[in-house]
Amino acid sequence: MLPFHHLLLSLLLPRLTTNPINPSSPSHSHHQYPVPRLYTPNTTSPDVLESFTSLSIELSSFPSYAGNLSHPNYFSKTLLTNLAHLSGSPPYIRVGGNTQDYALYSPSLTVALNGTINPARSPDYPTSLTIGPSFFESYLTLGDNIRYTHGLNFGLGGNISHHPQAWISLLETVGLVCDVLTKGNGTKLYMWQYGNEPDLYSTSAQGPVRSREEWDEVRYVRDWRNGTAAIERVVRERCPELGGGRGRYLGPDFGGVGNRLSARKAWEVGLNEGGEIGLFSTHKFISGAATPGVTLQHTLLNHTVTKRSVDAHVVEYDAIRAKDPSVPPLVFGEANSLYNQGRPGLSNTFGAALWGVDFQLYSASVGFKRVHMHQGTNYRYAAWQPVETEIATKGTKAPYYAAVFVAAALGDLVRRSARVLSLSPDGSTAGSEHEAVYGVYTHAGSVLARLVVVNMRGYNTTVSGDGLEPYPPSDVPERPVREYTFQMDWWGDCDRKIAVRRLMANGSDAITGISYDGWTYDWEADEGRPVRLGNVTVGETVEVHGGLVSVKVPDSSAVLLDFEG
Ligand SMILES: *[C@@H]1O[C@H](CO)[C@@H](O)[C@H](O)[C@H]1NC(C)=O
Ligand SMILES: *[C@@H]1O[C@H](CO)[C@@H](O)[C@H](O)[C@H]1NC(C)=O
Ligand SMILES: *[C@@H]1O[C@H](CO)[C@@H](O)[C@H](O)[C@H]1NC(C)=O
Ligand SMILES: *[C@@H]1O[C@H](CO)[C@@H](O)[C@H](O)[C@H]1NC(C)=O
Ligand SMILES: *[C@@H]1O[C@H](CO)[C@@H](O)[C@H](O)[C@H]1NC(C)=O
Ligand SMILES: *[C@@H]1O[C@H](CO)[C@@H](O)[C@H](O)[C@H]1NC(C)=O
Ligand SMILES: *[C@@H]1O[C@H](CO)[C@@H](O)[C@H](O)[C@H]1NC(C)=O
Ligand SMILES: *[C@@H]1O[C@H](CO)[C@@H](O)[C@H](O)[C@H]1NC(C)=O
Ligand SMILES: *[C@@H]1O[C@H](CO)[C@@H](O)[C@H](O)[C@H]1NC(C)=O
Ligand SMILES: *[C@@H]1O[C@H](CO)[C@@H](O)[C@H](O)[C@H]1NC(C)=O
Repeated sequence: MLPFHHLLLSLLLPRLTTNPINPSSPSHSHHQYPVPRLYTPNTTSPDVLESFTSLSIELSSFPSYAGNLSHPNYFSKTLLTNLAHLSGSPPYIRVGGNTQDYALYSPSLTVALNGTINPARSPDYPTSLTIGPSFFESYLTLGDNIRYTHGLNFGLGGNISHHPQAWISLLETVGLVCDVLTKGNGTKLYMWQYGNEPDLYSTSAQGPVRSREEWDEVRYVRDWRNGTAAIERVVRERCPELGGGRGRYLGPDFGGVGNRLSARKAWEVGLNEGGEIGLFSTHKFISGAATPGVTLQHTLLNHTVTKRSVDAHVVEYDAIRAKDPSVPPLVFGEANSLYNQGRPGLSNTFGAALWGVDFQLYSASVGFKRVHMHQGTNYRYAAWQPVETEIATKGTKAPYYAAVFVAAALGDLVRRSARVLSLSPDGSTAGSEHEAVYGVYTHAGSVLARLVVVNMRGYNTTVSGDGLEPYPPSDVPERPVREYTFQMDWWGDCDRKIAVRRLMANGSDAITGISYDGWTYDWEADEGRPVRLGNVTVGETVEVHGGLVSVKVPDSSAVLLDFEG
């Protein structure tokens, strides 16, 4: 048995009254994690790419998120800048999603976008839409250092006999994106994406765009190659400075690993025979907004679900890599908690932010190089609502804090890259469903930079766990606190204080009042700029002593031990 009793506990600032880390509250369990000194892999580099925590914005919502040249969306710009300060570079933005496969271009449209919502197909986004010339202004509003992937229409634009106008529109769009993103000082066009979730084209719940009989991997690959060849002809004319199509596409962006088309098979029949795909992109939603049995604790605050769900993509990728060692790096090109835009009371809660931390760090630990969290106006899982609408208030939402925490955990990736190691408790894996623990290493795995604990046991701050009616002050249930000890046999004799930064809210059902290291990024505080709250503990430290360090973590919260700061 190791001597835990002499370990320093969290230091509490005396002015605080609402600190949930009360030393007198019961420590319900104690978890010990051995931490290796080095994380040096034997195969390909597990370092993540810069801007690991990135974004995907629904094409039809992009004008709302970004604004236009006369009305830039400064709120979005501020929230992106916050992440850039933590990561060294702003999130990469992929503009696309289901609506990229419905969008047609009209040079005479006087507004950025004219969409028609058909509630029978989707109540959340238009399933028929036209974009005009001013749509492309949105690429110029969020700052010069953002890199974009533009999602092109393959759904309508890829079957010429079905929709000849969409083919013309596709080629015109390529030229317009060239004009806006590749001129001036350096290109902001990172990649193209031709088609969103083509594995679902013949089965889509929003209406199939291919016939069940004809749509298979061979047909997909033939059409994709034919379409990208045509796109490249436009690129050579309109933005030759891009230097050709090699490595310039995100793909195949399938919606899952068990759908009608298989990415493995598409790869085998020559999807990337020209080397156009620069990142192997796949999409992940943990479950569905309307799927029976989905709850915060059972589905999102459940590491077993996240692990199983992400692992299935690694199995697919590894199978492809076994046959083609040159398959490009793996990313989630679109991901979030619950498909169909999330469920209120789940996807917009602090619990979903904790899920987002676990999901992103776990993905990094199994080889994902970047994760694009999907966004859309009025979407329940959005990191922020960019504009005021009839059904949602403009503001920073809980999932934004997951991006902040993940960015902080990985550190400035421009200065030095990082890799993530998933840590297991000593002895058994019991309890691992309720928490996730990670080590972040820099310098090619030779320096332990940070440790992360995500305690995913639910704790409700409202009577029904729905974020609505707070407990009366006299009746607030006790919030359990768990103690986590890290065992670093290699540490040596020196004692050292380590900075503690917490991702905190009143409970997993909270939808407001979230903070990271005492900072709020809420719209109401200062329009998204960081504001230090006066009611949250900051400046906490823990001490490494004899190679051991312990930290207390209240249920429904996450903590970062920062060896660098
Ligand atoms: C790499 O290391 C892992 C974990 O130690 C091991 O399971 C795997 O077999 C190793 N792979 C190679 C190619 O050595
Ligand atoms: C720019 O955005 C504003 C505010 O949404 C809108 O009123 C204006 O029409 C837009 N301009 C163009 C050229 O689309
Ligand atoms: C938008 O589309 C609708 C339906 O097709 C049409 O009635 C309307 O005139 C269009 N608006 C503009 C500004 O083009
Ligand atoms: C172009 O970009 C480079 C690198 O970001 C910068 O150093 C240079 O000042 C820029 N030039 C202009 C004219 O903006
Ligand atoms: C393409 O469109 C035509 C005309 O609508 C249709 O007959 C054909 O089945 C479509 N092809 C695929 C692969 O769905
Ligand atoms: C391939 O692309 C060309 C244009 O580049 C088009 O005319 C032709 O119909 C396409 N073929 C198929 C099978 O889609
Ligand atoms: C977590 O997920 C696993 C796998 O689906 C399930 O067996 C378990 O019951 C879930 N835990 C909770 C607390 O719902
Ligand atoms: C929180 O509330 C939800 C919804 O009512 C409930 O299912 C869950 O068990 C509660 N969690 C705790 C820890 O009390
Ligand atoms: C969180 O709890 C504190 C103290 O119990 C309370 O003052 C505050 O209003 C709560 N915040 C939210 C968003 O409910
Ligand atoms: C701290 O203050 C913020 C802003 O007023 C509030 O949203 C949050 O709930 C407070 N937190 C606590 C623990 O009192």
